[in-house]
Amino acid sequence: MSILPEKHFAVIGAGNIGRILLERLRDAGVPPAHLVVCDSDTERASAAAERYGVRAAALHDEVVCQADVWLVATSPASVADVVKALAGTMRPGQIVVSFAAAVPVSHLEALVPAGVSVVRVMPNAPSLVGQGMNPVVYGTSAIPDARTLVEAVLATLGDWIEVADDQVNWCVGLSGAAMRSLVPVLEGMTRAGVEAGLSESDARRIAAQVMLGTAALALETDLSWEEIKGLTPMQTVDEPAVAQLFVDAARGVKAKIDGLQRKL
Ligand SMILES: NC(=O)c1ccc[n+]([C@@H]2O[C@H](COP(=O)([O-])OP(=O)(O)OC[C@H]3O[C@@H](n4cnc5c(N)ncnc54)[C@H](OP(=O)(O)O)[C@@H]3O)[C@@H](O)[C@H]2O)c1
Repeated sequence: MSILPEKHFAVIGAGNIGRILLERLRDAGVPPAHLVVCDSDTERASAAAERYGVRAAALHDEVVCQADVWLVATSPASVADVVKALAGTMRPGQIVVSFAAAVPVSHLEALVPAGVSVVRVMPNAPSLVGQGMNPVVYGTSAIPDARTLVEAVLATLGDWIEVADDQVNWCVGLSGAAMRSLVPVLEGMTRAGVEAGLSESDARRIAAQVMLGTAALALETDLSWEEIKGLTPMQTVDEPAVAQLFVDAARGVKAKIDGLQRKL
């Protein structure tokens, strides 16, 4: 039996990730009365609250301060300010989960009183359909109960993997933003299907299922990359060049996030 419905959650930041969290938690059986949303843009908070049937509140409202878990999905530049604003009323046992890029868990742990667990997650958008990959870092303060609860939240989003704090900037290019790298592959395949006379939706279905099926081969077998490629004899792209493109993309994203982290 899930522990989620008995807990109270405050989602801070009603943007892409905040809305995904509200939707997945609601669908996982968290009662709307146990969910509250805040945003510096109060209209955005109200719109999200109306859409998911939950309450909107300000950061300093009691309902926010009393939450069991704060899911902080604001821009990276605001996360420390949000945590500092809540720190004054924090009590042992409460949990802060930051979804922001470029903000190390160690930085946030230094802002909270003893007994508060701090966790960092690098979210990704396929979580909207429960197919996300969300690398997670537990702060040194995170107690076993906090891990159990955070894993229940992550299970609503898809899969997760524990990584070190200093690996998370890599994870932006490997998972957090990686969907953006893959969509052009789907777009190109769909366009080729349309050129062949297929409807847009049929072409899109073929492209998406080929990507899903290829991913399943990677996840569900222990075949090497060469063995997987060998299942289809015809090479269709410059494979080493495409692979290198993705290595370079992840390196480039890491460098960008490292730069942002130095500025925060
Ligand atoms: N989207 C992704 O796929 C993805 C992937 C990896 C990591 N992330 C991380 O997840 C976090 C959220 O991303 P997102 O795409 O959801 O961003 P977003 O759509 O820009 O949403 C962030 C929301 O937080 C609000 N906000 C900013 N400061 C606030 C404060 N002090 N108190 C309350 N609300 C505040 C923003 O309002 P304003 O617009 O008025 O500032 C905005 O509505 C970011 O830190 C990002 O690094 C996102």
